[in-house]
Amino acid sequence: MEIRVLGPFELVVDGRTRPVPGSGERALLALLASAPGRIFSTVRLIDDLWGAALPVDPLNALQVRVSRLRKIVGGTLITEPPGYRLDLDQAQVDAGRFVRLVAERRFEEALALWCGPPFKEFEDQDWARAEARRFEELHAVALEEHLEARLAAGEHAALVPELTRLVNAAPLRERLLGQLMLALARSGRAPDALAAYRAFRRRLADELGLTPSEGLRQLEGAILREDGSLGPPVATARPSTNLPAPISPLIGRVAELGRLPELLARGRLVSLVGPGGAGKTRLAIEAARDAAGEFRDGAWFVPLAGVTDPARIPDAVAAALALRDPESASARRMVTAWLASRNALLLVDNCEHLVDECARFVEELLGSAAEVRIIATSREPLGVPGEFRCRSGRCRRWTRWRSSSSGLEACGRTFLPSRVRMTSAGSAGSSTGCRWRSSWRQPVSRP
Ligand SMILES: Nc1ncnc2c1ncn2[C@@H]1O[C@H](COP(=O)(O)OP(=O)(O)OP(=O)(O)O)[C@@H](O)[C@H]1O
Ligand SMILES: [Mg+2]
Repeated sequence: MEIRVLGPFELVVDGRTRPVPGSGERALLALLASAPGRIFSTVRLIDDLWGAALPVDPLNALQVRVSRLRKIVGGTLITEPPGYRLDLDQAQVDAGRFVRLVAERRFEEALALWCGPPFKEFEDQDWARAEARRFEELHAVALEEHLEARLAAGEHAALVPELTRLVNAAPLRERLLGQLMLALARSGRAPDALAAYRAFRRRLADELGLTPSEGLRQLEGAILREDGSLGPPVATARPSTNLPAPISPLIGRVAELGRLPELLARGRLVSLVGPGGAGKTRLAIEAARDAAGEFRDGAWFVPLAGVTDPARIPDAVAAALALRDPESASARRMVTAWLASRNALLLVDNCEHLVDECARFVEELLGSAAEVRIIATSREPLGVPGEFRCRSGRCRRWTRWRSSSSGLEACGRTFLPSRVRMTSAGSAGSSTGCRWRSSWRQPVSRP
């Protein structure tokens, strides 16, 4: 069981959302989940849940809510004097994991759990507003720490738009302003950095009668002096790919390799479809390695062959992206949140045995992450609207190479075409008639 409060309130059981009928029962569950495991006294619960608008018999009203809620969460809701508690540990509530990840300075993973304003549904209640404020402050700190790390990794240019948006949304947050100034200055935009500082200083004086901190003034001075210490750091980037490096050369497939970048540029999902052993994975890895440099946030290999439970697809993606929160039951939200602002390529490999769930997840990802593109390999097409399909038969050149006694020698022979037909599924999922055969004019240029 898992409860989510960092965004829409949700109860998740066995990987599926379970409805919690009744706003009163929902509020009780959310309040108890704000501190999983802790006993909430009946007095506190009544006070928080009803405030001044007490029912005639408050204790009875609370007991009614408790018994209704027990029909949904069963023995997880425990009676323990002087009140009630949830028999959950911190990791079963996203807020609990969030707090732990922030404490461990794993800011990126913490931020990936954030799916919107916390406890929003209960914002008419004081306790929920107080909890929301607590988490929003923690979120702001986690965000600033994460931005700091990205600045230190040399991402100043890519961060300017995001920092500008954040500063506009929270114009008096000094640390954000400092980060924006630094990102601008490092991107060769010192005048913009100084203008941002002046606007901040004016606003601070007008609204609060304060002056910028010593640290910010020093930053302004350093930008004015064009201080060399402001220069970009040597990037210590996170790995940009986990694509396997092939141990043998790719045989043939020149035409497909030539076409795949074009298909990827035109559509955001390209599926390599064909029979088992046709060489789909091999070709897709090669194509993804070729294209990886085009993606700011890298190219990632998501092997699904070993995944048997469709509910585990998001975990496989999270593992590929090295988003490590082993206790997370919400890999789906973590992955979606992480990818939302990324420019990345995913190679989702061997989808055939999970094709329906794969299709749903891929569609959801493409919908929420505008700069993500996906190559999928599968014995069956995913059937996602807009999917480009590359039907891949066995590569005859490779088959011959494999069966010849001297494969390396065959490598240099005349090119033998594979049977590959590429088609495009239109946005309604139907074929648009955009299909062509490969021309096979190119000689094999790969070793
Ligand atoms: N063109 C090629 N050049 C070199 N090796 C190849 C080529 N095509 C396939 N192979 C090799 O053949 C084996 C099977 O290929 P691959 O795993 O890519 O098939 P697949 O279509 O993905 O199969 P499945 O549907 O079972 O996943 C692998 O060892 C792969 O490296
Ligand atoms: Mg494969």
